[in-house]
Amino acid sequence: MKSFVKGMVIQMSERKNILSPSILAADFAVLGEQIKEAAAAGAEYLHIDVMDGVFVPSISFGMPVVRTIRKTTNMVFDVHLMIVGPERYVKEFAQCGADSITFHLEAAEDAEDLIGQIHSLGCKAGMSIKPQTPVEAVRKYLKNLDMLLVMTVEPGFGGQKYIPESTERIRQARQMAQELNPRLDIQVDGGITKENLRMVLDAGANVIVAGSAVFKGNITQNIHDLTAQF
Ligand code: DX5
Ligand code: ZN
Repeated sequence: MKSFVKGMVIQMSERKNILSPSILAADFAVLGEQIKEAAAAGAEYLHIDVMDGVFVPSISFGMPVVRTIRKTTNMVFDVHLMIVGPERYVKEFAQCGADSITFHLEAAEDAEDLIGQIHSLGCKAGMSIKPQTPVEAVRKYLKNLDMLLVMTVEPGFGGQKYIPESTERIRQARQMAQELNPRLDIQVDGGITKENLRMVLDAGANVIVAGSAVFKGNITQNIHDLTAQF
């Protein structure tokens, strides 16, 4: 993308900003319709939160839901596994229609090997870190990853408040990516709103998860308000 400022051409980053609505905040009684509305309004990814009641306190949904909604849309399925032993399930999620699979560093037995497994299934590989995990812990995996998810709340529930210290962590992650893997997507997840979106984009995030900010109220309007800031 090029932009013209005072007669000078400034080469901006080639990074694309993407919205990934989290269906955790959707109305499950009309899930298919809400997904279609999100796609029509311009959301490219769909964020699918899988929780096992062990890695996080809550239980959400699993393979049957992913398989069913796969029939309703061509959106990119961005599956966020908040489960222990993620290596046990990546194959099944890939078969159910995941395009990108993100696991937690804190939950993986052998993260390097798991990244390889996800790639061999034909999916993009993402790694996520909880707010207390040092960003530095991902350094050795960065070059092999497609996406790093910097959690901006404690994983487990939708509708929480953004943790302010996250902004510095996003900046740190982007800086590390600049050195080691400039094409890395940096995703943020938790408490993202119209009000703090600009801040996380400026810090270096480019894949934006939003649950409540998309599905509470008018979905189309919410998506337009968010993507207008991209
Ligand atoms: C939290 C999940 C999030 C959640 C985000 O553990 O990973 O994806 O759905 O919801 P909001 O945007 O409402 O904070
Ligand atoms: Zn998530």
